[in-house]
Amino acid sequence: MSEAQQALDYVRGNGERYLSELKDFLAIPSISTLGENKGDVQRAAEWVAAQLHSINMDNVQIMPTAGHPVVYGEWLGASKSAPTVMIYGHYDVQPVDPMELWTSDPFEAVVRGDYLFARGSSDMKGQVMASLKAVEAIVRTTGLPINIKWLVEGEEEIGSEHLGEFIKNNKKLLASDFCLNPDAGMMGPTKPTITTGLRGLAYFELKVYGPDKDLHSGLFGGTIHNPAQALIELIAGMHDKNGKVMLPGFYDKVRKLSKKEHEEFKRLPESNKELIAMTGVPALWGEPQFLPAERTGARPTLEVNGLLSGFTGQGSKTVLPAWAMAKISCRLVPDQTPEETFKQMKAYLKKNAPKTIKWELINLHNAGAAITDSNSAGVQALAKALKAVWGKQPYFRREGGSIGSVVLLQKYVGADSILTGFGLPDDNVHSPNERLHLPTWYKGIEALTHFFYNFK
Ligand code: BES
Ligand code: MN
Repeated sequence: MSEAQQALDYVRGNGERYLSELKDFLAIPSISTLGENKGDVQRAAEWVAAQLHSINMDNVQIMPTAGHPVVYGEWLGASKSAPTVMIYGHYDVQPVDPMELWTSDPFEAVVRGDYLFARGSSDMKGQVMASLKAVEAIVRTTGLPINIKWLVEGEEEIGSEHLGEFIKNNKKLLASDFCLNPDAGMMGPTKPTITTGLRGLAYFELKVYGPDKDLHSGLFGGTIHNPAQALIELIAGMHDKNGKVMLPGFYDKVRKLSKKEHEEFKRLPESNKELIAMTGVPALWGEPQFLPAERTGARPTLEVNGLLSGFTGQGSKTVLPAWAMAKISCRLVPDQTPEETFKQMKAYLKKNAPKTIKWELINLHNAGAAITDSNSAGVQALAKALKAVWGKQPYFRREGGSIGSVVLLQKYVGADSILTGFGLPDDNVHSPNERLHLPTWYKGIEALTHFFYNFK
């Protein structure tokens, strides 16, 4: 029996326990953005460290940062010539609101049909477990053929704010040939995917102030510029009719798509119909001259993530609000930077904000856009592993999401990320009823198991 086969048999024999351990992990509400969950975030870090101990990793540490801690562990017992692969993950999750739309408790994972429902099941505790459990299977059977280092952070969902500092201060500890990052998902259950680019992010809070207190809308309406209205007028001007972003200089550094790149996007098995069915919208929107896959993978965007102003309770209240607030973020592509985007947003507001209101722009968090090497030995090892399990070559594509670590590892460690994952586009990530497609998850564990044997 081949070495890989011994480990794969172990995976199959332990699948149920793997799932029950994943449920334990998902029970910890490690919401990184909420102060009230700080203790839970710490508990999740401890849970990951305990897993690393249980699979015989060395030098396991919960390493503090100015924010949430990073969990580190390593096994460096392979031969000198074997590569060192970092395995990346994040143990933090997004908030769960609106709670009333969840069919079951977000932190009590339940199986319904082929899916496991819980916050973080797909993004990305399930993926962290897939890596841990593939390595467990190898450690318990043949032993690891390569060296590995674990980097599991707790701030990915808030822009990996302190990870740059951490990586910079621990370059030696983290030195590796490349980084396996299963946080990028796949296009569909029969479409194994290697992601070759991610968008960056620049996230702002925009506040508009009018009168110094809420006013009677009958006494003052018509003489005072309503801040809610002023805010949406500003927001309305941030796009033109064709979905183009109107911040000054926004597209200056955006790389043009080559004919070849366009042909590659065209070949992806994705249809407008599927997108409409998945999201429930009546029709698609966006720059008409680009394909949907190009608009999410290779074009920058600006989104309103949330709006707040005035009276939103039950019934009515005739009020002219004192202020209005919007959360706005831009997805960026190479070679845009979050710093320049902040300046462009400021310039737009300076130019367009009326004299009738005051405004304030706060920078919340940033992530760089990345393109990764699609020909490395690591990518080849992964492509072979995906093929072994799915029986077909993986698709290569650029994705619209952001992962802060990718650029930081390129910059400070010189390690390129191999981006993949077993989350699906309809897993409801960041939404109510997040779920994990279990048949795909089990395949993912098998694929990662293959991966580690593919370096000889
Ligand atoms: N797993 C996602 C990123 C992702 C999604 C990559 C889809 C590829 C395809 C990750 O956990 C995430 O949601 N990241 C945040 C980062 C942000 C807060 C800086 C994102 O993209 O919104
Ligand atoms: Mn996420």
